[in-house]
Amino acid sequence: MPARFASTSPEMTQAWARELAAGLQAPVVIALIGNLGAGKTQVAKGIAAGLGLTAAITSPTFTLINEYPLPNGGVLYHVDCYRLQEAEREARQLGLEELFDLGIVLIEWADRIPTLLPAARIDIYLSDAGPGRRDIELHDLRAQPLPSPAAV
Ligand SMILES: Nc1ncnc2c1ncn2[C@@H]1O[C@H](COP(=O)(O)OP(=O)(O)O)[C@@H](O)[C@H]1O
Ligand SMILES: [Mg+2]
Repeated sequence: MPARFASTSPEMTQAWARELAAGLQAPVVIALIGNLGAGKTQVAKGIAAGLGLTAAITSPTFTLINEYPLPNGGVLYHVDCYRLQEAEREARQLGLEELFDLGIVLIEWADRIPTLLPAARIDIYLSDAGPGRRDIELHDLRAQPLPSPAAV
C-alpha cells in the first residue's frame, strides 16, 4: 500500500483503493481531500468494491450521507460535505460524529469539516496531474506515537 501513488486512469485509482480496502478494519474514518474531479468518488468506489459491495455506489452529493450494509455485517458510510453551506455546523447537526465509531466512514471534502474529524484517521489527498493523471497521497494518522515527555 504505497503512501504515494501516481494514477494514470480512473480504473487504476479504483484498483489502488480496492487494495487499501482489503486491509481496512472498522471503525475507521477516511478523509478524501481534493478539488472537484480530483477522483474522491473514484476512490470511494474502489473502497466499496474492495469491501465486497457489488452494486455501484453513487456520489452522495445531494443526500450528504449514503449508507451501505457490508457483506461482513459492517456498514460503509459515504459522506460528501460539498453542498453544506456551513459545513461544520450542519455536519454536527446531522450527527456525523456519531458515525465515526460505527463503521467505515468515507468523507469527501473532509477538509471542510476540520474540527469534526477524529485525530486518528486516514487522510487521502488527490490532485489533478494532467489528463487522466492523478497524484494520490495517503497519510495514516491512526497510530501516532505519543509525544515524549521532553517534547511536551
Ligand atoms: N487517474 C484518474 N483517477 C481518477 N479519476 C480520473 C483519473 N483520470 C481521469 N479521471 C476522471 O476524473 C473524474 C473524477 O471524478 P470524481 O471521482 O467524481 O471526482 P471528485 O469526487 O473528486 O469530485 C472522473 O470523471 C474520472 O473519469
Ligand atoms: Mg465526489
